[in-house]
Amino acid sequence: MNKTVIFLLDGEVIEGSPGKTILEAAEDAGKYIPRLCAYKGLAPHGSCRVCTVLVNGRPQASCIQPIADGIVVESESAEVRELRRGVIEMLFVEGNHFCMCCEKSGNCELQALAYRFGITAPRYPYLFPKREVDATHPYILLDRNRCIQCGRCVRASRDVDGKNVFQFGGRGAGKRIAVNAAGGLGKTDAAVIDQAIEVCPVGAILRKRVGFRVPVGKRKFDHQPIGSDIEGKAGPTAV
Ligand code: FES
Repeated sequence: MNKTVIFLLDGEVIEGSPGKTILEAAEDAGKYIPRLCAYKGLAPHGSCRVCTVLVNGRPQASCIQPIADGIVVESESAEVRELRRGVIEMLFVEGNHFCMCCEKSGNCELQALAYRFGITAPRYPYLFPKREVDATHPYILLDRNRCIQCGRCVRASRDVDGKNVFQFGGRGAGKRIAVNAAGGLGKTDAAVIDQAIEVCPVGAILRKRVGFRVPVGKRKFDHQPIGSDIEGKAGPTAV
């Protein structure tokens, strides 16, 4: 009972295996759906809402919504694009994302999405938060002012590294990424090679001592828009 699921994505017939999410099935068909908290090899989180699509007219997070026969999915309509754009703009104003002086510039997925959506200045006022920066680890920096709370580091540390170094602490607007030692990151068993360090999509978790080893202008998204490695290439799911 392994029949193919058939659904419509932006008017195109897509076939996928049962159990795949909309985001995965779209990607197998060479269609990129923007995302931030989703990451290949990590359990889906469904928190950032950048991957929102309309399923039979209702908004759903495509990274957690399984495909089903006959559903009609909109991903590239003006309405959906505007919705995603708003989410991305809010992420920018909620934190301190000063790309021109961030080591992650050019490799940052939030920045790359802003370029993809043509965002030059957010419509909303900046909050300019003042959050704790943890520089206690000799090789890793944690800057909560740039954290978008995607939870990639939490899942990677728990499920891949097996360390549980990162968790969320606090509630609501006071929610922050936390570490499992009172003395800060330097008192944990976090290592610079941990997957939790690798998967941060923004400049919240950075490796020290290697800053600008790859010069600006030669970084991942400097010449290739985010998602362009997926678009037009039908193949195994890359998320
Ligand atoms: Fe789907 Fe974040 S990528 S909610």
